[in-house]
Amino acid sequence: MVKSMPKDKGLDHTLKILSEGYPYILNRRNTLQSNVFETRLLGERVICLTGKEAAELFYSNDKFRRSDAAPPRVKKTLFGEGGVQGLDGDAHHHRKGMFMSMMSKESLQEIVELTDVAWDKFTTKWEKMDSVKLYEESKKLLTLVACHWTGVPVKDRGVKEFSQELGDMFESAASVGVAHYKSRRSRSNIEKWLIELVEKVRNEEIQVESHKALYAFSTYRDLEGNLLDSKVVAVELLNLLRPIVAISVYITFTALALHHYPKEVEKLKEGDSSLQLFIQEVRRYYPFFPFTSARVNQDFEWQGYSFKEGTLTLLDLYGTNHHPEEWENPDRFSPSRFADWTGNPFDFIPQGGGEFDIGHRCAGEWITIDILKVSLKHMVHHMTYTVPDQDLDYSYSDIPSLPKSGFMMKNVRHVQ
Ligand code: HEM
Repeated sequence: MVKSMPKDKGLDHTLKILSEGYPYILNRRNTLQSNVFETRLLGERVICLTGKEAAELFYSNDKFRRSDAAPPRVKKTLFGEGGVQGLDGDAHHHRKGMFMSMMSKESLQEIVELTDVAWDKFTTKWEKMDSVKLYEESKKLLTLVACHWTGVPVKDRGVKEFSQELGDMFESAASVGVAHYKSRRSRSNIEKWLIELVEKVRNEEIQVESHKALYAFSTYRDLEGNLLDSKVVAVELLNLLRPIVAISVYITFTALALHHYPKEVEKLKEGDSSLQLFIQEVRRYYPFFPFTSARVNQDFEWQGYSFKEGTLTLLDLYGTNHHPEEWENPDRFSPSRFADWTGNPFDFIPQGGGEFDIGHRCAGEWITIDILKVSLKHMVHHMTYTVPDQDLDYSYSDIPSLPKSGFMMKNVRHVQ
């Protein structure tokens, strides 16, 4: 017997999702008492899923596809066209391999060292500044790290300018109007520049070390043995550069957590083992990616509900990380909860769930954790600063959400 799916009643909920923001799906789950329900967005019937079991379903490759899931405006800004996010099956697996080959132990060690050096350099610079807006400064810091790590010559573009262009892509991905067009313009300018670089690498006009992504992606061959279109290489290089710089959002929330939870700072001072717990809780607790989307690949039934081919389906990332069935006191910031976390790939999914190679889980999750650990270590052990009065509120309807002031620091001192 097929059951009728619980429904968020009303004609269309686009405005509600925009105004409620991150907790929209979890709020409906609470009122409808169901981890699966249907809603209507921009006139289309959409299935919403939340929680561990639903996440496991969402990552079954035979049941969901990605090729036609992302809205066109997100492709024009955040993702780009022709990138790994929109591939399925063997083509996805092969392309994802290109990304995962960048995540070797040596490669991760390299990005950790680059980040460490960049923090030393920036803290020394901040000592001479009257006040420091951590969000803007960490975007620059990470632009430098991302470019050195991928082999992209940042000096040709300028760190400040490039950090702003990369920021436009994730800061305005969900915007409309002028901000959306600014984001599109930044993407198209950077893609043009990267395409030229890729062609220069291929013609041996510039030399890049073979382990760097600029070289590896430019010379990567697809399943048929062909080089990728240089525009697609540019999109994929941006799939490394843009999200590395977006880690600045998490760095800013890390600083906010240090400010709001001083007792946790004491624990961090006791030893490095608590860094990981703190970072994981920052990624669980604060809002970043609200949900991810796919379309039903073929008709199937799940828990008595019918999923029809082509139906747009959203998996709630924020809500799964705050789900009352999985987390005790989910709205409390408590790093120690991660001391006994089992590592389940479906209950803690700030960067997607499931598997890395054959699934769409974020290729940069290890990099994100490593960069955050180095950043936290610097904030706790290698610098002192004061936090002046400012507006530290963040909104659940801004995507991405950020403390409004961008986290201002004063009297920064570098501690060796
Ligand atoms: C800033 C923190 C980050 C967040 C919150 C984040 C979040 C996500 C999310 C939610 C997805 C989609 C998962 C899905 O659809 O199932 C994703 C995919 C992806 N991320 Fe990240 N990410 C971050 C950092 C990174 C970094 C640092 C990199 C690269 C160095 C990266 C590269 C990618 C790639 C290539 C994909 C596509 C994977 C695929 O479709 O198979 N991300 N990320």
